[in-house]
Amino acid sequence: MADDHMHVQEFFGARAADWDNRFPDDGPAYAAAVAELGLRSGAAVLDAGCGTGRALPPLRDAVGPGGTVLGLDLTPEMLEAAVRAGRDRAGSLALGDVARLPLQTGALDAVFGAGLISHLPEPEGNLRELARVVRPGGQLALFHPIGRAALAARQGRQITPDDLRAEPQLRPLLAGAGWRMVSYVDEDARFLAIAVREG
Ligand SMILES: C[S@@+](CC[C@H](N)C(=O)[O-])C[C@H]1O[C@@H](n2cnc3c(N)ncnc32)[C@H](O)[C@@H]1O
Repeated sequence: MADDHMHVQEFFGARAADWDNRFPDDGPAYAAAVAELGLRSGAAVLDAGCGTGRALPPLRDAVGPGGTVLGLDLTPEMLEAAVRAGRDRAGSLALGDVARLPLQTGALDAVFGAGLISHLPEPEGNLRELARVVRPGGQLALFHPIGRAALAARQGRQITPDDLRAEPQLRPLLAGAGWRMVSYVDEDARFLAIAVREG
């Protein structure tokens, strides 16, 4: 396994058990972000880098009992915490890498990725793999429950203009990977970029 992946697994493995306790008030923000996708009943959706599965219950609510919800993550401890929290009742969980998704081309209506993109070693290639598994016209939501500036402050660092998630970087990055960005919000209360899969 690549060093990048071992680093991700060590970093998030150490934080998994306490993850939900650190951010207990984020639930409504996840539900609001999922609602903005306007998923139809019966849709198929992936939570990429699902962690403890905080997005899975609102995703299930959106697609209904006949829909498909899959949570995929690289860190086993995160998925174990998701099971302990009962989030496996909202969707199927899989250990895996967004660089090589165990899904057929065009199989999904949408991908939700919270706190994911900054951790990807090859953002463009990984976003292209996410595009592969989404049908033309399907959606990608890149979300974080606080905005870039608030996150940087929490982590004791400065926000930099070359940040991948800054709009001038993110729009062409998505375009190069098969996505057309249709909305972008970066405010203290949340970060949410939504893109549509080009045909
Ligand atoms: C900041 S956490 C966010 C977890 C969850 N989405 C949430 O909002 O609480 C990032 C997650 O992405 C996962 N991750 C990082 N790189 C990944 C990859 N290449 N494939 C799948 N998951 C990955 C990590 O294991 C971690 O659980």
